[in-house]
Amino acid sequence: MVAFDGTLGLFVSLLAGTVLAAQECLSPRTVALNLGPCRVLAVDKSDVSSFGIIVGVEGTEICVSPSTTVNSTFLTEISVCADNQLDMSSEPSQKNVTMTAQQCRSRRGGFVDKSALATADVQTVKDLNPGWGIFGNKLTAAASATLQLLDERITVVVGLITEGQKSTQSHLALSSGSTLLRGLKESGLIGALSWGLNSGSQSVLFPRVGSLVLGGFDKGSLAGPFFDYPVSRLPLEGRYCPLQVVITGLSVRTRNSSETEIVGKANKLLACVEPYDNLFRMPKNYLTQFQALLKGPLVEPSSYSDRLLNLEPGIVYRKDAADFNATLRFTINYNQTVEVPFHEVQRSLRGLDKNGAVIVDPDYNELQIYGTPAEGDAAVLGKAFLSQVRSILPNTLAI
Ligand SMILES: *[C@@H]1O[C@H](CO)[C@@H](O)[C@H](O)[C@H]1NC(C)=O
Ligand SMILES: *[C@@H]1O[C@H](CO)[C@@H](O)[C@H](O)[C@H]1NC(C)=O
Ligand SMILES: *[C@@H]1O[C@H](CO)[C@@H](O)[C@H](O)[C@H]1NC(C)=O
Ligand SMILES: *[C@@H]1O[C@H](CO)[C@@H](O)[C@H](O)[C@H]1NC(C)=O
Ligand SMILES: *[C@@H]1O[C@H](CO)[C@@H](O)[C@H](O)[C@H]1NC(C)=O
Repeated sequence: MVAFDGTLGLFVSLLAGTVLAAQECLSPRTVALNLGPCRVLAVDKSDVSSFGIIVGVEGTEICVSPSTTVNSTFLTEISVCADNQLDMSSEPSQKNVTMTAQQCRSRRGGFVDKSALATADVQTVKDLNPGWGIFGNKLTAAASATLQLLDERITVVVGLITEGQKSTQSHLALSSGSTLLRGLKESGLIGALSWGLNSGSQSVLFPRVGSLVLGGFDKGSLAGPFFDYPVSRLPLEGRYCPLQVVITGLSVRTRNSSETEIVGKANKLLACVEPYDNLFRMPKNYLTQFQALLKGPLVEPSSYSDRLLNLEPGIVYRKDAADFNATLRFTINYNQTVEVPFHEVQRSLRGLDKNGAVIVDPDYNELQIYGTPAEGDAAVLGKAFLSQVRSILPNTLAI
């Protein structure tokens, strides 16, 4: 069993072809980026408080999230925080919630201004990213942008997120056809078409900074073996996610060792491993079981949104009305067991105040499981589950 805490971790390695492992050893060149709290200045020089990786784009900085759902990098554009984009009610999880412009800026991790970028062909980006539009993401503009990744610069064609509520922040492309990785490899800036993510922790009690290594992985943060899974070419419930695993066990263990089984060998569950998502996503019937375990009423985001904007609402409840106090024990593909500790499962409610600054409301707790099911009802293991994940892309891609 691999424990999960600040020093030990879950190591899932998802291989498309083992051939590349040797190539990776011979070519150690990597680009290593920090993943953690991200504070930058927006285009108008106001403060942005976000979480992610800092990327420079033509004189401004934005906070981006690693994403395996896309082959092209998608950047939030200034119009995504225009007055007519602040009402979030189109999302089932955010009924009756409207952001302030400052909250929008932090939620999006800042943005670029497309008038400062060279226009590119939208259709090319659409063709490379067949999954983008399926759940209501719109693609209205594309640009050629020079991204500054610490000391390295690379020019790529990016999609621009100009409207809608589907994407929280910018996506840094890590899918099997990532134009970013291929560009870095072709310019000799990385030695292998691979990446390694140490997702850090956004725990309120024990936060920890993570990293994204392009062209390799952070060997220094390993505390156990990688488990290998093949990369899937098929969407899961319509969702494009190359990294998929089978959950063959999931149980909730309270401190007094009582155990409730949610998933067993008889009802095993296919799940996306998606670092863009922060929380766990459960299909509806499992979600209902978690809500029942709380033995207390849930709270809608609109009931506290005048004080705090919840970026990705989990299962929220008043501290004095319900309690969870348990760990989640996952078994993947029958033989990898991971116990997610209590402080990664339940947290004090955190969000953004009216000025877009991060605050915690000690009267509420939140389980790190999305309060509403995913589009298509797929299960997703997000950053709250991952300690470390690594992927090696196929050397040649069918495009
Ligand atoms: C949203 O507001 C409407 C009208 O005020 C109300 O009927 C509804 O219950 C609210 N929904 C939520 C989820 O708060
Ligand atoms: C990325 O491109 C590859 C190769 O063309 C394709 O198989 C895959 O479905 C694409 N992934 C996404 C998430 O769009
Ligand atoms: C969880 O339960 C244990 C005892 O079962 C208790 O000591 C601990 O304080 C509880 N933690 C929280 C956050 O409620
Ligand atoms: C263990 O804790 C659970 C939930 O807090 C409670 O329902 C159950 O009765 C406890 N079991 C024992 C043996 O104390
Ligand atoms: C896990 O199980 C798979 C097949 O179910 C097997 O091929 C693999 O070797 C096992 N891994 C470990 C570490 O036991």
